[in-house]
Amino acid sequence: MLELAGVSKRFVIRHNPSLDLKVRVLALFHPRHRERWQEVWALREVDVHLERGESLGLIGPNGSGKSTLLRIMAGILLPTRGRVAVSGTVAPMLELGVGFHPELTGRENLYLSTSLFGFGRRQTDALYDRIVAFAELRDFMDAPVKTFSSGMAMRLGFAVATHLEADILLVDEVLAVGDRAFQEKCLARMSEVRARGCSIVVVTHDLDLVRRFCDRACLVVEGRIVAEGAPDEVAARYCGGGVTAEPVHAF
Ligand SMILES: Nc1ncnc2c1ncn2[C@@H]1O[C@H](COP(=O)(O)OP(=O)(O)OP(=O)(O)O)[C@@H](O)[C@H]1O
Ligand SMILES: [Mg+2]
Repeated sequence: MLELAGVSKRFVIRHNPSLDLKVRVLALFHPRHRERWQEVWALREVDVHLERGESLGLIGPNGSGKSTLLRIMAGILLPTRGRVAVSGTVAPMLELGVGFHPELTGRENLYLSTSLFGFGRRQTDALYDRIVAFAELRDFMDAPVKTFSSGMAMRLGFAVATHLEADILLVDEVLAVGDRAFQEKCLARMSEVRARGCSIVVVTHDLDLVRRFCDRACLVVEGRIVAEGAPDEVAARYCGGGVTAEPVHAF
């Protein structure tokens, strides 16, 4: 379904970039005025293989490269090196707020999201009631999304992403803002779409979710997958500390 081979991603972070011509000319003569930049390898030589109907959990410390990996899977970022092969359609539900326009209403955002996925108006009309019922937001769909709580925005995003009938669902750290009942509902929904053959990648700090839901887990540290295998074992390694970017331990 999804295959990443030797994927590396480099970001260049520019500190205090100046567009001021005077500063730029000065910089030619005075190093002090020169722009400082820093190179970050967010991912280094990552291999991922995802089967049809399989769910994979990505765990690891802040800044270790999980979201970058998911964005590369979604095709939102291109890898600096390596190869990405995806067969089928991808429904990404990335960090909260990404993909929603705050000034547009819930209804408008719903139609916008599905159209970006390639759905026509009629196709969305046919799904609309089911999506809204799942999100339990019927009374709020004509209010701008900027008036939604983060949990409400998550409900809408999750409901849309899981009703697109995509082949691959990518979920980045969003379930945490849902209340307990809705979290359970999301898990049930993910199990449902997985049972229909959808492959799922979940990025999360909720190790219980990974243990309960995922078939397999990867521990990402400093841009590398340092452990991969049964969720229990990988989560235990993460909790056990010593999360340095050493060679892969397969469980
Ligand atoms: N657009 C960007 N420009 C520059 N650097 C970036 C960009 N996006 C990510 N990075 C860097 O890449 C590294 C990995 O970031 P990423 O967001 O993938 O981490 P993460 O594992 O998702 O962390 P978290 O658990 O906090 O969500 C970080 O060092 C971050 O600073
Ligand atoms: Mg992240």
